Amino acid sequence: MVKTKTKILVIDDDPKVSWILSESLASSFDFVAARDGIEGIQMVSTEKPDVILLDIKMPGMTGLEVLEKLNKMDSRPEVIMISGHGETNYIVESVRLGAANFINKPFEVKEVEIQINKVIEHSKLKKEVTELKKELQSKKVYDSFVGDSEAMFKVKAIIEQVANSELTVLIRGESGTGKEIVARSLHELSGRKDQPFVKVNCAAIPRDLLESELFGYEKGAFTGAHKNKQGRFELANMGTIFLDEIGDMPMELQSKLLQVLEQQEFVRVGGINNIHVDVRIICATNKNLEQAINQQSFRDDLFYRLNEITIFLPPLRDRKEDIPLLVNHFLDKYNKLYNKKFYQFTQEIINRLVSFDWPGNIRQLENMVKQVVVREDESIITELIDSARNQAINVSYPQPLYSSPQPVINSNPESDDFSLKNRVGKTVANEEKRLIAEVLSKTNWNRRKAADILQISYRSLLYKIKDYNLNVTK
Ligand SMILES: Nc1ncnc2c1ncn2[C@@H]1O[C@H](COP(=O)(O)OP(=O)(O)OP(=O)(O)O)[C@@H](O)[C@H]1O
Ligand SMILES: [Mg+2]
Repeated sequence: MVKTKTKILVIDDDPKVSWILSESLASSFDFVAARDGIEGIQMVSTEKPDVILLDIKMPGMTGLEVLEKLNKMDSRPEVIMISGHGETNYIVESVRLGAANFINKPFEVKEVEIQINKVIEHSKLKKEVTELKKELQSKKVYDSFVGDSEAMFKVKAIIEQVANSELTVLIRGESGTGKEIVARSLHELSGRKDQPFVKVNCAAIPRDLLESELFGYEKGAFTGAHKNKQGRFELANMGTIFLDEIGDMPMELQSKLLQVLEQQEFVRVGGINNIHVDVRIICATNKNLEQAINQQSFRDDLFYRLNEITIFLPPLRDRKEDIPLLVNHFLDKYNKLYNKKFYQFTQEIINRLVSFDWPGNIRQLENMVKQVVVREDESIITELIDSARNQAINVSYPQPLYSSPQPVINSNPESDDFSLKNRVGKTVANEEKRLIAEVLSKTNWNRRKAADILQISYRSLLYKIKDYNLNVTK
């Protein structure tokens, strides 16, 4: 492979500067030149230089003004300032604006070469460190996903099965059950792990800003839109976008989201061109979306599209066997974080923790353990649980997120087989038939797609269609 040379953009009203440099350093770098700030800024987009040499004093826009403009770009090359005699007072300002270094005029060509190489080396290192940090952070997520109850075992199995697919995943569960940790794990275990993971909390962003936040805007789209801005979908390109609290997305944006899901394309606010992105979508909600559909505040077509796979996180009160494990995990985490040595709870305290119902789920348990570690006193648990219990007294648990439809029992107890095994068997079969029919209808009887969604083999889907006597319905 031919290695392309580092490209340097010289922005200087004195053409001699770039001429001298390209004459002497042509074997090491490619030079392009701009005669003023405006041309220079344009050339940053067209030429994509690796480093910019920027003169401080120029007619029209000064070097500092150019630097300020460059800083507004989503990413910019490293900048080395060129300062003339007596301009040292500008140097402090240019460093504050993020210039990597400066060169005094008149300069030695060798010195310029050394400075450019230094800056390139430094920027490479910076990139590597950011990458490394990202990797370290993301590696921790799935490793710190604790729980070996049967319910969590199943959750982990689904995460591992679907992480590396392109399926859209909907994560459901009460507040504090770990929806975000699951979303991050799905990204971390996918082929997109080295690409961005972008989180958007649809409930936290004001309604009228959400569209431009998600899809970006064009300069002039509204008052205050002084420049083009990329939205989170563009920032997540090649990676994953996590739409948290999707149940709070306003109706008018739901159709735009549906379009992105279907065509991977959208238009920025105030724009006319379609922008194509390759983004995997993961959503989470603690809302009852079925109810929202009935109340016409959530589109059913969007729901089915988002819901290719659902991961349901059970509340902590339904998997109490995970509590001791979680307690140890948080003890370890906060002792390390706060440099403490409070590593064990008595059995009595563990029993109290297990018998509590945890309306705030794991987040609530985590906060409690954190406070104990900080104060190094487990006796406060009793106090904390009592006050949590008092707060929860009038708060009923959230409605179950969805309940499976009850099979209609329409039979004669005299003649029918009422054994539990028979009843359960029929219920399961009914539910299976209903679900398969629903997925087949949603996929327009695309059996391969339906088998993927149901996570069964194509062959077994064909058998089931035959067994249940399912027919194409329009
Ligand atoms: N299985 C788990 N193992 C370890 N820590 C967990 C687990 N589940 C959740 N946590 C921790 O509990 C806290 C709450 O989890 P998270 O933010 O993922 O919940 P959530 O379901 O997104 O809540 P909300 O609906 O309120 O946003 C986080 O600090 C998270 O790290
Ligand atoms: Mg969350």
